[in-house]
Parts: sequence; C-alpha cells; structure tokens
Amino acid sequence: MDEDVVGRFRPALDQLPEQADVLLLAGDLTRHGTESEARCVATEFGGLGVPVIAVLGNHDHHCDQVPQVVKVLEDAGITVLEGDATVVEHDGIRLGVAGVKGFGGGFAGRSASAFGEPEMKAFIQTTDDSADSLAAALIGLDCDIRVALTHYAPVPETLAGEPPEIYPFLGSYLLGQAIDTAPTALALHGHAHAGSERGTTPGGVRVRNVAHPVIKQAYSVFHVGNHGP
Ligand SMILES: [Fe+2]
Repeated sequence: MDEDVVGRFRPALDQLPEQADVLLLAGDLTRHGTESEARCVATEFGGLGVPVIAVLGNHDHHCDQVPQVVKVLEDAGITVLEGDATVVEHDGIRLGVAGVKGFGGGFAGRSASAFGEPEMKAFIQTTDDSADSLAAALIGLDCDIRVALTHYAPVPETLAGEPPEIYPFLGSYLLGQAIDTAPTALALHGHAHAGSERGTTPGGVRVRNVAHPVIKQAYSVFHVGNHGP
C-alpha cells in the first residue's frame, strides 16, 4: 500500500465492528516501508473500534525504517507482532494471536537447506529463527483460541497460482510446523498475490491467504471457536 491507501478501505472498515471482533493485518502494509507511508496506514486503520493486530511484510522492511514504521503504527493503537503474541478478550472468550513476518525457504521436497555457503546458512537460519519464535509465541499463549498471523506462507496450497519457481521466496514449511506445535484454530498469511485462498497445515490447521488480490475485498470474516459457524 502507498499513500493511495488513505480512503481506500475506510468506508468498508467503518462497518467492521458490526462484522468482527478484531482485525488482523498480514503484512505489506506499505509499499516501501517508509515512515510517511506508515502514517497513511495509521490513518486508514487506526481508531476502528476493534483491536487491530498486524505483522509486517517484506515491503515494510524495504527502506530499513522498521522501528519508525512500528512506532507510527503502535502510536495509532495498532499492535505489531514479531515473535510475540497478544490476547484480545471478547464476551469472555480470550483470542490469542501470535505473529511473525516469517521468511522463505520452500516446502517439503523442494526446500532450501542450511548447507554450503554462509549466505545460504544465514538465509535458512532466518526462517528457522522466525519459525521457532512463532512456535514459542503460540505455545506460550494463555487463551481459549489461538490464531497464527504471518506474512510468508506456511503451506504450499495457498500459493497455487503463483509460479512454482518462486515458492521458496513465498514461504516455508517450517512456519507450518511451528503452527502445528500448538492447538491453533486458524493461520492467516499474505504475500502471495497470485495464490489461492485455502490450505491446511500437515497437522490440520486451516490456512487462509488473505492477500488483498486474493480475497478481493477490504477484509474477510472468519469465525473461530465454538461460538460461530
Ligand atoms: Fe510480501
């Protein structure tokens, strides 16, 4: 999203409190990760009347202004997760959301491995560390319902439609393994604009690609727990 984000989602978002109890944003909130873009995001997604929880995406890292971007978003009341979690209580139900940006590496049978050059080892170590922090955040949650929020994809099914050659840059099976370490009700990710909406982790957790070009609307509503269909 760029400066043009202002006003783009707000008309739909103003109806959000009648539709949902919390809004989750799966990263790439900005186009180049500048503080000024973050201010536009804060204007568009701040003060919605429901808690807003986000992870950053690769675009949000581009200009090396992550601390500034996070501060602007958090000053607007948006919770930004990276290897940690937050709990939102609604009608006595505690919804826990654990989030990381995640990283690439690919999927079973076609994944990169920590072998050879230091650069390759660093690449996979980044994903490994990210997955470990997601697992720890999920396991550490004290809540009734767990949701995992990432930017990169945890399963290949939701990448269907993307060129197979770029799957290793769109996600990693390590994120899926992390999600399966806890009784997670739902996993949401972005990043794969030409991907598909639905997938499932090997452990049976439903995964949804909520990238805007995939859902084609301001937001999608998901019911979790026993109080909805
Ligand atoms: Fe992305």
